[in-house]
Amino acid sequence: MQEQLSQVNQMIAEIQDFQADTKDKLELFKSNYIGKKGAITALFDQIKEVAPESRKAFGMELNRLKEIAQEKFKILSEIIEAKNEAGSSKPTDLTLPFIPNALGSIHPLVQTRARIVEIFERIGFTQSEATEIEDDYHNFTALNFPPNHPAREMQDTFFIEKKQAGNDEQSDILLRTHTSSVQIRLMQKQKPPIRSLMIGRVYRNEAISARAHCLFHQVEGLYVDEKVGFADLKQTLYHFAKEMFGKDTKVRYRPSYFPFTEPSAEIDVTCLICKGKGCNVCKYSGWVEIAGSGMVHPNVLENCGIDSEKYTGFAFGMGIERVTMLKYQIKDLRLFTENDVRFLRQF
Ligand code: PHE
Repeated sequence: MQEQLSQVNQMIAEIQDFQADTKDKLELFKSNYIGKKGAITALFDQIKEVAPESRKAFGMELNRLKEIAQEKFKILSEIIEAKNEAGSSKPTDLTLPFIPNALGSIHPLVQTRARIVEIFERIGFTQSEATEIEDDYHNFTALNFPPNHPAREMQDTFFIEKKQAGNDEQSDILLRTHTSSVQIRLMQKQKPPIRSLMIGRVYRNEAISARAHCLFHQVEGLYVDEKVGFADLKQTLYHFAKEMFGKDTKVRYRPSYFPFTEPSAEIDVTCLICKGKGCNVCKYSGWVEIAGSGMVHPNVLENCGIDSEKYTGFAFGMGIERVTMLKYQIKDLRLFTENDVRFLRQF
């Protein structure tokens, strides 16, 4: 019995000293001690050789040995496991492309508007604003529209309140059809020199299609000072077209008519889609219209209390949608207001 007990104690010491830093060594520990053919099992087999009265005490010693071995095995496996995990987690690869956060983008109309403002700001244009709900006077009368001009009629204008017949103090209240109304408000309160942009939403009672909408955005410009001539208008818009659409862009002025300008001109630029060769966007002419313009009609200046003998001015107006469609080759106006992220993410 003494001999067996000293074997047990020796084995406990061995087990406690055992070091294993690899899975192979751990396996060796297992087969040496706790496996079916291991040393501990062999000792259990010796129980029958011990004197019956000592068997119980020996058995208890063997159980203690077995527990120590199993505990040691557990600790060793945990250490090796932890070591392998640390070893297998590779360091972060800094060259991998990162997964970007999903960010919104700036609406194409806002981008175009910002670009237009940037171009005109550099040549001294400020910005002016006024309300979208206007009266007939600022939207039409002061701009020299004859009383029966078709633009005043129901098919073009959204009226909010119609004037009662015979009540001269009343005026039609409407949604502005152009930002020229802001020109009137500006000239009423500011004396020349005036050099400003009028930007904003305008409304027209039109059926919504790929080319027309009841709501769109305009940038108008007004320059009033002594000795402002048509050459200034041409040069200003020529500069704008080159900055906006590229230096190879050609510009042409076509005679036109607006009640508030005289003479008036429509401004065309070379079609950006076919580069002037002719396509369905430019209706095979090679040119697309981007703006209306002209010399401010003397009646308009006088309506605002500006001496038309002393001062002259030019004005122009363009649709931000139209400019954006040309720049990005967008064929349907409705895309701007549908908020489809597949469209918006491209800008
Ligand atoms: N107000 C005109 C329109 O809405 C554009 C324009 C502005 C034309 C200034 C000439 C001068 O169509």
